[in-house]
Amino acid sequence: MTVITGDSLFDSFLALVTFTLTFVVYYKRAFRYWKNRGVPFPKPTIPWGSLQSYFTPKMSMGDEFAAIYRETREKGLKHVGLFTMTSPLYVPVDVELVKQVLIKDFHYFTDKGIYVNEKDEPIGAHLFAIGGQKWRNLRSKFTPSFTSAKMKKMYKTVINVGNAMEMHLNKKNLQDPVDIRQILCDFTISTIATCAFGLKCGDFDRPNPFAGMAKRMVNRTIIDDVKFAIAVNYPNFAKAIRLTWIPALIKDFFTRIVEKTVRYREENGIVVPDFLQSMIDLKGDRGREVLGDGNSVTMEEIVAQSFVFFVAGYETSATTMSWTLFELAHNPECQDRVREEFTNILDKYNGEMTYEALNELVYLRQCIDETLRKYPPVPYLTRECVRDYKVPETEVVIEEGVKIVIPVRGLHYDEEYFSDAEKYDPDRFSERNKEKIKLCTYLPFGEGPRLCIGKRFGIMQTKIGIFYILKNYRISVSRKMKMPVKLTTAFIPQAEGGLWLDFEKIK
Ligand code: HEM
Repeated sequence: MTVITGDSLFDSFLALVTFTLTFVVYYKRAFRYWKNRGVPFPKPTIPWGSLQSYFTPKMSMGDEFAAIYRETREKGLKHVGLFTMTSPLYVPVDVELVKQVLIKDFHYFTDKGIYVNEKDEPIGAHLFAIGGQKWRNLRSKFTPSFTSAKMKKMYKTVINVGNAMEMHLNKKNLQDPVDIRQILCDFTISTIATCAFGLKCGDFDRPNPFAGMAKRMVNRTIIDDVKFAIAVNYPNFAKAIRLTWIPALIKDFFTRIVEKTVRYREENGIVVPDFLQSMIDLKGDRGREVLGDGNSVTMEEIVAQSFVFFVAGYETSATTMSWTLFELAHNPECQDRVREEFTNILDKYNGEMTYEALNELVYLRQCIDETLRKYPPVPYLTRECVRDYKVPETEVVIEEGVKIVIPVRGLHYDEEYFSDAEKYDPDRFSERNKEKIKLCTYLPFGEGPRLCIGKRFGIMQTKIGIFYILKNYRISVSRKMKMPVKLTTAFIPQAEGGLWLDFEKIK
C-alpha cells in the first residue's frame, strides 16, 4: 500500500479514515429517511440502526418490537419509522392502520419482504416467502389442501401419532420433571413428517432424522447470521451475488425425501390422504414449469411447500401446546375444567375422540386461544410495500420496497384491548366475550389474505397433543422450572431454562 504518499503506514491510516468517513456519511444520509418524510423515529445508531437484537441479542426481536409498540402508543403516535442497519422499516401501531395494511389495502402489501432466490434456491420459493402473482397462484392451488374435509382425512394420521406418544410416555419413568417442549416437538415433527412427507415417523423411541434437521435450522452459525443480515437488509445486492441462505444439508435432505416419496407413490399407484398427496394430485406431467404459472405444480414447488409446511408447522404448534400445558399446570382450576370437558365429550361420543368430538372441545380451544395471545409463536408479522402508498389522513407516503412490521406481541399485551393482560384468562375467548375482541388486535395466525394457511391443522394437532397428555396425567409446575418465567432471545417464545412439569398418572 504505497500509492498515495509513499509511506505505507500513513497510507493505510488515510485509507482507514476515508473508509470510516464514507461509511459514516452513508449511514447519516440513510438515517435522514424518516425525518424527510415526517414520520417519528427513535434515534438510530451505527451500525445496527434502531434494533439492537440482530447481532447483540439482549431480548428477542418479538420483545423488542413489543417495547417499541408500547413506547409509540404511550406517546400517542400512530406509527413509527425504524432502521434495520440502513434500511427503513415502517411500524404501524394504530389498529386502524394495521387493518389497512393487512386487509383493506392489502393489494399494496402483498409481499412479505423475505429474500427469495428462486433460481439458485428453489426450495426457498415457498408460500410463506414469495410474493406477487406467484404467491396468489400458489395460494389458490394449495388452499383446497387445508379444508375441513381434508383435515378430517388427516385426522386419523395425527391420532396415530398421538397413540404412539402415549405408548412412549407409558414406558418412560415420569417420576422426574419432564421437559414438555421436547416431547411436543417430537410429536409435531412426527405429525408433519407423516402428513407433509408421507413418512412413517410414529416411533418415539428412535431418533427421528427430521429432528436433526430441525436442530440444524435453529442452531445457526455466524455465516448463517451474516447471510441473513445481507439478505434482509440488502436484497438487491444479495440477488446480484446470487446469495443462497438455506444450509445445503437441509436442502439436500428435504429434496431427496420428497422426490423419493413422490416417485415411489407414482410408480406404485399409492394414494395416501395427506398434504403430499394433495400436491401430487396437482402435479402435471409437463415436467418443469415456470414457478407458480399454470394450473399444475412442479416437483420443485412440491419440495418447497413440503419444506415450509415443516418449518412453519412443527415449532409453532409444539410451542402452543407447551405453553398451554404450562399455563394449565399453573392454573389447576383451568386444567380441571379441560379434563371435565374431555369426560363430557367422550361420554357423548361413546368414549371415542372422533374428529367431531375434538371440534366440540370448546373450553380447550379457549385455553389455546389465550395461550396464543400470551405467547404468540410468530411475535410479529412482516409485509413489504409493493407500490407507493399514502397513509390515510397523513401526508406520509410509504415507498415501494419499504418493509413493514406489525408487532403482534405488542398488540396482545395492550391493556386497551386485553385488560389485565399478564393474566391467563381463557374466558376472554368464550363465545360471548370473543365477539368483543377488536379486529386486528389479536393476530396469532396473522390476518387478511396472507392469514396462516395451516391454521386448521395447527389447531387440530395442538388439541390432539394436549388431549393425549391431559387424559393420562395430572400436571403441575415442577420445582425445576425457573420462576418467574423469563423468555429467551429466540424468535419463537421459549422459557429460559426450559418448561419443566411434574406428571402424575391418573388412575
Ligand atoms: C399454532 C400453529 C400455528 C401458528 C401460530 C401459525 C402462525 C402463522 C402466522 C402468524 C403466519 C403469518 C401470517 C401473516 O403474515 O399474516 C403463518 C403463515 C403460514 N403458515 Fe402458519 N401457523 C401455525 C401452524 C401452521 C401449520 C401447521 C402449517 C402447515 C402445515 C402452517 C403453514 C403456514 C404457511 C404455508 C404460511 C404462509 C401463508 C401465506 O403467506 O400464504 N402454519 N402462520
